[in-house]
Amino acid sequence: MRSRVAVLISGRGSNMTALIDAAADPEFPAEIALVVSNNPQSPGLDHARASGVEALAIDHRPFARDRAAHEIAIDDALRSRGIAVVCLAGYMRLLTPLLVDRWRGRMLNIHPSLLPAFPGLDTHARALAAGVKLHGCTVHYVTAVMDEGPIIAQAAVPVFPADTEDTLAARVLAQEHRLYPLALRIAAGQAAATPDPGAAFSNPLPAAVPRT
Ligand code: GRF
Repeated sequence: MRSRVAVLISGRGSNMTALIDAAADPEFPAEIALVVSNNPQSPGLDHARASGVEALAIDHRPFARDRAAHEIAIDDALRSRGIAVVCLAGYMRLLTPLLVDRWRGRMLNIHPSLLPAFPGLDTHARALAAGVKLHGCTVHYVTAVMDEGPIIAQAAVPVFPADTEDTLAARVLAQEHRLYPLALRIAAGQAAATPDPGAAFSNPLPAAVPRT
């Protein structure tokens, strides 16, 4: 039986769409059964509904400063729908241990850097400022510490001298859309940790990179 997965978003939802598209394959070990956004204006909610996926807005604003009550409302929605795994995909609220502990080992996040480098926001600008030559994205299990937790899979991209934040973000995002379905397969236990080393660690550098 396929695991029932919920995706938590706050905005655009392109990673959510990548997961929905991957799960359209009946061989994929998970079905995307629910999308939840804390932002009723998320374009991702409409995209999910257009794909036939139930999509709920659970706005955090009426809960004011009561983060726990908002998380309990989300948790109730997840449990009432028999969700087994939660994927955070651009979910922009910090989660408290209340929700994280309830879903420990069953909650994944995608982050646009090669963790542990550049946790937090503005990862592409910070990667450019640091002068790194490789950047990328990470899918990891969620723990109470932001952008920490056991790494499931990573994909790397080169950073070119002419890169801007936008060009680098686009290169990383293309890899995110490959990586998240792969990581969900791994987490669902139906793929070995490295089913295809080239897929789990994508390094698109040209073959003739000078060795220094
Ligand atoms: C992605 O870059 C993801 O890694 C980060 O937030 C962004 C969400 O983009 N956590 P989208 O909403 O999936 O298009």
